[in-house]
Amino acid sequence: MTTKSLFTTKFYRAPICGKNLPELQQDLRDACAMLETDDKAGRKWCKDNAYRGYTSYASLNDLDTRFSCFGDLKRRIDKHVAIFAAECHFDLQGRKLVMDSYWVNILPPLGLHTSHIHPHSVVSGTFYLDLPVGASALKIEDPRLGLMMAAPPRLKDAPEDMQTHIFINPSEGDVMLWESWLRHEVVQNQAKTKRISISFNYNWL
Ligand SMILES: [Fe+2]
Repeated sequence: MTTKSLFTTKFYRAPICGKNLPELQQDLRDACAMLETDDKAGRKWCKDNAYRGYTSYASLNDLDTRFSCFGDLKRRIDKHVAIFAAECHFDLQGRKLVMDSYWVNILPPLGLHTSHIHPHSVVSGTFYLDLPVGASALKIEDPRLGLMMAAPPRLKDAPEDMQTHIFINPSEGDVMLWESWLRHEVVQNQAKTKRISISFNYNWL
């Protein structure tokens, strides 16, 4: 008798690659602080949409050229995405995965980001810049949850790959990647200071 695991959901986590990481992280912190102050359109969007904190998601689409540190980070992320794409066994058919959106998230104490997916994208992910003690975990959901209907819940001590929801606590300097259909949320930030991350989508072009 054999029981296989099929239709695997890949989730990638690694320290960001490359040299001079402390300098890059400081440059990114400075750039994020500048954006939070200067991006009036972004701040208005957050206010209008009851987003507690700041995101450049709806207001800026040129971070990688606006600040060289974001361009540096993008090039590093590209390398991780290439590894993840190979692990997913994507047949890209001569086309490429290209970052087509890239944004800053500054989550204050008690801020959160409710459950969502990233439509029209292939790979999504986040780079974690500042994670004070108590900073939010990333909660990911079994993509089959909506199909389970009468299925019993899983045992609390079920192995990780059999659980319905998984909480992942990143470390500063980590990049995490997943396929964009994977539902996820940022649970409430219990830290006393801001949680800062940089998120992105890759499309198949
Ligand atoms: Fe997201």
